Amino acid sequence: MRSIRNIVILTGAGISAESGIDTFRSGADGGPSLWEQHRVEDVATPEAFRRDPELVQRFYDMRRAAIQTKQPNAAHNALARLDAEWGGELLIVTQNVDDLHERAGARRVLHMHGEHLNAWCTACDTRSRWTQPLVDRPPCPRCGERSLRPDVVWFGEMPYRMDEIYSALRAADLFVSIGASGAVYPAAGLVREARELGIATLELNLERSQGSAWFDETQLGPASELVPAWVEQMLARSVS
Ligand code: OAD
Repeated sequence: MRSIRNIVILTGAGISAESGIDTFRSGADGGPSLWEQHRVEDVATPEAFRRDPELVQRFYDMRRAAIQTKQPNAAHNALARLDAEWGGELLIVTQNVDDLHERAGARRVLHMHGEHLNAWCTACDTRSRWTQPLVDRPPCPRCGERSLRPDVVWFGEMPYRMDEIYSALRAADLFVSIGASGAVYPAAGLVREARELGIATLELNLERSQGSAWFDETQLGPASELVPAWVEQMLARSVS
């Protein structure tokens, strides 16, 4: 294997599961989790927002309030340590809209599906830090219009900063996926992209993801155990 200097890490809901944040595909039967009888996919679309903005805002208000009560776990802490100590390029691309990577201290984080703690004003196209509910249609702090929505990428919308992600991948020597089911594109396609680029690929997950066959190596177990052990191993062989 070629020596590893630059790393791209993809994280999914599984890395935050042990912090008490529900994953998306955690229904009792392994299917989608339900919220007030709606599949998450049915709430997280622009059509759902047009149809019933109050329902969608309440859903996100609930999740925004919930994440503020959660704490980073050992996996977030380990990645923050890797970010601080790794001498090469490193990018943590997260599908998660929580802020647990940042609260653990990681800096090189890219939220490809947006952030719960941001509100996006569709009138003036600005984003503001937002910790409160949106269901009562508060005015935008910038323009005063009541056009704020969660700054979260919904199904059918384009994930953020894909150019930056692909360019980091082209410069990478290792792609690691942590706690991601491989069910939602384009994130799920990154491993194939990495393979085509000849980059080493590693999966750390509780169970095999849908794209598991694309990885050179899969380690199964809880992120809070696998990630600290992997980080320890990487730092032991660290580039200078
Ligand atoms: P999912 O909920 O689809 O998958 C979570 C993955 O984490 C599964 O493969 C679990 O086996 C694994 N997992 C659960 N607990 C774990 C633990 N303690 N340690 C390690 N792994 C664990 O979450 P994502 O793949 O992030 O998109 O979902 C992708 C996207 O689908 C989300 O970003 C969201 C969602 O709908 C949008 O909202 C656009």
